[in-house]
Amino acid sequence: MNDTLDIPADIARAVISPKAYAEDAPVHEAFAWLRANNPLGKATVEGIYPFWIVTRHADILEISRQNELFRSGEMPTTFTTIEGDQIVRKMTGGSPHLLRTLVQMDAPDHAKYRVLTQSWFLPQNIRKLEDRIRQIARAHVDHMASLGGECDFVNDVALTFPLRVILEILGVPPSDEPRMLRLTQELFGAADAELNRSRAETGDAAANLGELQAVVADFFMYFKTITDARKAAPGADLATVIANGKIDGAPINDFEAMSYYVIVATAGHDTTSSSTAGAVWGMCQFPEAFAKVKADPSLIPGLIDEAIRWVTPVKHFMRSATADTEVGGRAIAKGDWLWLAYPSGNRDEAVFEAPAAFRPERSPNRHLAFGYGAHLCLGQHLAKMEMRILFEELMPRLKSLEFAGPATRAEANFVGGPKRLPIRYQMA
Ligand code: HEM
Repeated sequence: MNDTLDIPADIARAVISPKAYAEDAPVHEAFAWLRANNPLGKATVEGIYPFWIVTRHADILEISRQNELFRSGEMPTTFTTIEGDQIVRKMTGGSPHLLRTLVQMDAPDHAKYRVLTQSWFLPQNIRKLEDRIRQIARAHVDHMASLGGECDFVNDVALTFPLRVILEILGVPPSDEPRMLRLTQELFGAADAELNRSRAETGDAAANLGELQAVVADFFMYFKTITDARKAAPGADLATVIANGKIDGAPINDFEAMSYYVIVATAGHDTTSSSTAGAVWGMCQFPEAFAKVKADPSLIPGLIDEAIRWVTPVKHFMRSATADTEVGGRAIAKGDWLWLAYPSGNRDEAVFEAPAAFRPERSPNRHLAFGYGAHLCLGQHLAKMEMRILFEELMPRLKSLEFAGPATRAEANFVGGPKRLPIRYQMA
């Protein structure tokens, strides 16, 4: 490790560039360089508040674990420019967040809101959904079989499968699925000209944020109808739990209930579809992985974990320090902003042997794609259950699998993964 704190400008640019994630190699090369030379260094980029980039597995865990010392509420939880931050604060009257969801909350509020739905997400509760999820999975596998041996696995299977599951959980009817898919992509793909609302290259922070605000307003309008319906006639779904939730004995307010729907609808969808597509991408790129899982279906849970590690669909979350402290030998000052580089932690050579390889048999697989500490992904059991069921349905029928054209990734430095995955296959 060198002694200088400063990260070279080209390396910092690769870490924050949505395009570098689409190309994949530049960002992983930048992370490998950082882990070897400056694992917790300071990035100074024009137009952006100075920030630390945390690249080692151990340091990411260390920071995530101390959620009082490293908080989520005071600074933007996802990366933005100074101009972007100022625009949001102007729009919100001072808050750096357009939404108020669990990921933007700290103690004491965070626990109060998390507990509302925590038990709903526990394995013993979501197990009840297994039969219904299997029906949805089977329909997707049947659809894939009907496509004549070639498809774009992202658009034909991976996008709609977790979307249908999460929307059922939220009580959204199938007819509104395209609208929800569009809104989620617009929210996360604001920088990707093919996914954002105006379908434009967006270098302009004000235009990007204006678009995002309109997307959020659409989400809110949509979920307001659902909240009103669940208040009038409660059911057994998650939407009912949220709509009728109480905080400190008082009913949850509309803004916070809407924010809750938005986080579940968005967090539960693109992440899972990217990981699902990543499992197929991994088996195309590493045919021996496909052969191993075919030969031994007990490797399916390993396939799932490896796909989530390999893709790491959540590229970062930010934290800010509430006091002067030290991590990884670096003095962090009160107010400092930190980028937790999950894809880097998940390729840390100190934890993973041959980290760039795709190995369903990897065990243990201590990836940190779901984060760690108080904000540890609420939907992790659901995500893994959905993926397990899909591959339990798919693998026995899949006789062969290969790329059928160039696969591409989304341009996204927050949530992203495969965007197109043309495959050729034989199915029973
Ligand atoms: C492979 C799929 C998924 C990945 C990789 C993933 C990743 C993450 C990460 C990295 C965090 C932040 C953790 C932190 O700050 O320490 C998170 C939080 C969260 N995730 Fe997931 N997620 C996935 C699927 C889901 C699903 C299916 C749902 C819900 C249906 C969900 C709901 C949430 C919620 C509500 C939070 C906020 C928790 C909190 O702040 O307390 N996620 N997820």
